Amino acid sequence: MALTIGVPKETAAGERRVAVVPDIVQKLVSQGFGAIVEAGAGEAAYFTDDAFREAGARTGTCSDALGADIVLKVRPPLESEIGKMKSGSVFLGLLDPLGRPALSLQLANRSVTALGMELVPRISRAQKMDALSAMSGVAGYEAVLQAAAALPRFFPLMTTAAGTVKPANVLVLGAGVAGLQAIATARRLGARVSAYDIRDAAQEEVRSLGARFVELAFETQEDADTGGYATALTEEKAAQQTALLVPHIAAADVVISTALVPGRPAPILFTDEALQAMKPGSVVVDLAAPGGGNCTATKPGETVTVYGVRILGPLDLPSKSPVDASTMYARTLLAVLTEFFDSETFRPDFEDEIFKDMCVTHEGQVVHEHVRTLLDT
Ligand code: NAI
Repeated sequence: MALTIGVPKETAAGERRVAVVPDIVQKLVSQGFGAIVEAGAGEAAYFTDDAFREAGARTGTCSDALGADIVLKVRPPLESEIGKMKSGSVFLGLLDPLGRPALSLQLANRSVTALGMELVPRISRAQKMDALSAMSGVAGYEAVLQAAAALPRFFPLMTTAAGTVKPANVLVLGAGVAGLQAIATARRLGARVSAYDIRDAAQEEVRSLGARFVELAFETQEDADTGGYATALTEEKAAQQTALLVPHIAAADVVISTALVPGRPAPILFTDEALQAMKPGSVVVDLAAPGGGNCTATKPGETVTVYGVRILGPLDLPSKSPVDASTMYARTLLAVLTEFFDSETFRPDFEDEIFKDMCVTHEGQVVHEHVRTLLDT
């Protein structure tokens, strides 16, 4: 019998994305899956119920969607939602398993197999499934738009009858997925862009986007076997880095900071000393706000002004572009579904690196080692 995917409406405050968009429903239906979408699930992202129905889905209640064989969501399920899922079903979405391990226990107790989209490893074969990277790209783009809107001057060089206006200086700290998209976007808006990262490999990528790489007079870290992610600096090196960054931050009109070391609070890259050295009216967009922020003054979810510098700590940037963010997210879900399901069967494969990394609960057990350790402590 055909497996059915269920798409409930997201309930988190400010969340405008929907896990699946009509185009992807159409692809799944053509592969033989059934689809049930909660009425209004796509409304905040401008995907109408009619569009979902035309793509082959049925629309129904939240309980109908949660009662499907495979529940697809953006945000982690609420306890009340888990209660409506059926035993033996599959949850696929962002789960925050390391931040909220208790949720995994509830899913295991309900005998739901939970696959966490944030656990997709950063390996080439899994690129198409990498929802976090897709969302970081959206966040990098949106961060620059927010900075440009908040900055009391232009980004590009402008030659006008009233004279020439110099371009803004944008500094991007952390040149991973979000950082590289921020660099590209700031360049498109005409700013003069420089960027810094502790990974040596980032230098070439920064330069290939036409930005200047900031070299600090201290030893950077070689990429270790950390799945494409950075490792944390020692306290001494971190302090050295913070001090060396001050003049570069002082010269910037805009700082977009994106530094991340997975599983750790966001590394601190700048403090009041650097903010005090910036020109009043400058803007910081601290993308690392969900992890506490790269700047000591950042207040996650708020905008604060310190020494005349506005510091934005946004938490929901992908929801600012809900159409494209939903579409990209849905594509990553489709890639996972194509890999581990067909329209009639689920193929859990613990020999497969991607599946093993993503699978948090299966057959009534929490099977993810890291999550189990968190639950035991
Ligand atoms: P990523 O892992 O691709 O990039 C992070 C970069 O930071 C890496 O290149 C790494 O080498 C660098 N880094 C780590 N420690 C550093 C240090 N001490 N100094 C300089 N660079 C350092 O991560 P990605 O996907 O680009 O995400 C970046 C941030 O954006 C994360 O904190 C993530 O939580 C955040 N994010 C925020 C959203 C929002 O709405 N605020 C939405 C999506 C992502």
